[in-house]
Amino acid sequence: MNRLISAPTTIVHTPAQLAGLALRSLPESGPPAASPPRVETATLPRHVAIIMDGNGRWAQQRGLSRSEGHREGARAVRRVVTQARNRGVEVLTLYAFSAQNWRRPGAEIEALMALLIEFCHDERSLLEEQAICFRVIGQRERLSPEARGAVELLEESTIDNGAMQLLVALSYGAREELVRAARQLCAEVAAGRLSPADIDEAAVERYLWTAGVPDPDLLIRTSGELRVSNFLLWQIAYAELHVDQRLWPEFDADAFDAALTAYAGRERRFGAIQAPPDPAQAR
Ligand code: FPP
Repeated sequence: MNRLISAPTTIVHTPAQLAGLALRSLPESGPPAASPPRVETATLPRHVAIIMDGNGRWAQQRGLSRSEGHREGARAVRRVVTQARNRGVEVLTLYAFSAQNWRRPGAEIEALMALLIEFCHDERSLLEEQAICFRVIGQRERLSPEARGAVELLEESTIDNGAMQLLVALSYGAREELVRAARQLCAEVAAGRLSPADIDEAAVERYLWTAGVPDPDLLIRTSGELRVSNFLLWQIAYAELHVDQRLWPEFDADAFDAALTAYAGRERRFGAIQAPPDPAQAR
């Protein structure tokens, strides 16, 4: 079930949420009529997506195992989930395990799955307290019965929570997601329920794992890498990118706020151009 609201671009913030953030809001009346469409000053992103990178390097720098790096990464997940929720972000999507990560050594996969199961058990009360709805996107059918059971239990128990949606991408790949959508659309056409001429962006979106979720406004990647790694390729078409040099286990509430502040200073054009200055206003 999807309970996300298709809300307007600006969101009301409490003074506490705004503290420390150089956020600029659109005027209540919206942009002047002369402006070209879809030019906005970014405020608080509705949807933040994060590529959590650098657990392995963090561990290596300390002479620890990669699994210990992932464990420290899970601590960072808790911090960031709380911060995003407290800041008023509507959707937070975390890339926890890609479809390609199955190629990692078995012991590392096992450690990651064990952490996931632990997270689902241990964080249930935190998600309940903070009214966060948890949902998995990706090839859930590839998860072990135990891991799948743990995530589905958490999904069921948090389904009515409305403060923030936490999407965790597991065995996720954007190309895999698009192939799956193409197959489902073809099946609809073959069954005579859909005409090829009716396949538009909205039709494709209905078959994505993120159906009904607003596209990410802000994509954060840690560890300084400049790649999108098969993550939400359709959905990030107009996302603002923010690369943080810290390794994921070092990412904290301040780092999250810094990303929000950087986002607040961006001008989003969505393919349009900025309106030329109004000479009357200049006088
Ligand atoms: C990438 O760093 C990180 C991952 C593949 C796993 C992310 C998992 C967590 C943050 C912890 C578990 C998550 C949840 C939701 C409980 P890397 O290992 O590729 O780092 P490296 O590039 O330094 O080797």
